[in-house]
Amino acid sequence: MTAGDSRAAGVVPGKPEVEQRWDPERYRRNASFVPEFGADVVALLAPRPGERILDLGCGDGVLTATLAAQASVVGVDQSAEQVAAAVARGLDARVVDGAYLPFAAEFDAVFSNAALHWMRAPDVVIDGVWRALKPGGRFVAECGGAGNIAQVLTALLATLARRGIDGRSTIPWYFPAVEDYRARLERRGFAVQTITLTPRPTLLPGALGDWLETFAESFLALVPAADRPAIKAEVENRARSHLFRDGIWTVDYVRLRFAATKPGGAKRNSEAA
Ligand code: BEZ
Repeated sequence: MTAGDSRAAGVVPGKPEVEQRWDPERYRRNASFVPEFGADVVALLAPRPGERILDLGCGDGVLTATLAAQASVVGVDQSAEQVAAAVARGLDARVVDGAYLPFAAEFDAVFSNAALHWMRAPDVVIDGVWRALKPGGRFVAECGGAGNIAQVLTALLATLARRGIDGRSTIPWYFPAVEDYRARLERRGFAVQTITLTPRPTLLPGALGDWLETFAESFLALVPAADRPAIKAEVENRARSHLFRDGIWTVDYVRLRFAATKPGGAKRNSEAA
């Protein structure tokens, strides 16, 4: 994509200097809630035997494996490390950037859990999903939506600002509002069946600092390694009164969840009159 293309594609401004790295072991330790919450999104997808499904942002494949028990699944993820973990589970997983989906009318459904907010060229991603789907195919996903992790981000940016660092241009996420994402889907031609934005406070298995290490590496990389423990401690102190209760950290997640269809093709039995 050129700069002109990326503006036309609605690329969300801000470019992390350091890309997020994914360590499957660290992810398993600190983020097991991600696939657990994804079970509801699988239920919304309602995969059927014989269907071919693309899991966009499959990560280490925990949730992909539940899809694969019900249908034929290809997982894609930008992280070679996460894809290797998914392949080790026996899955068909490939290293693919969500902005460059190489599929054409192959899938009955595209599924995505907790991944779209990392893809900051949403129109390009939606285009790729559209091309990947057969007529009548479904796009069912959940990601961080408007207001997601607001308290964490406020504490993080304030902590960096106290050291003279403006972290805003480092924000690697895109957290769309309902009307924003609905308009993008409809502009591409999708029929949107449902799209909702719901707060989902999420209990962490460990400390907020562990969450930062797992998910907010591009911010921590703005300071020397020796300063990172102090950064994590200061973010925790700033966020404590909002996010720490009874010995448990709770992150202020807000989820955008939607189901949309590419028109055409035969109706599923459940849709037939
Ligand atoms: C999320 O799932 O909402 C999320 C995960 C990591 C960083 C930011 C948001």
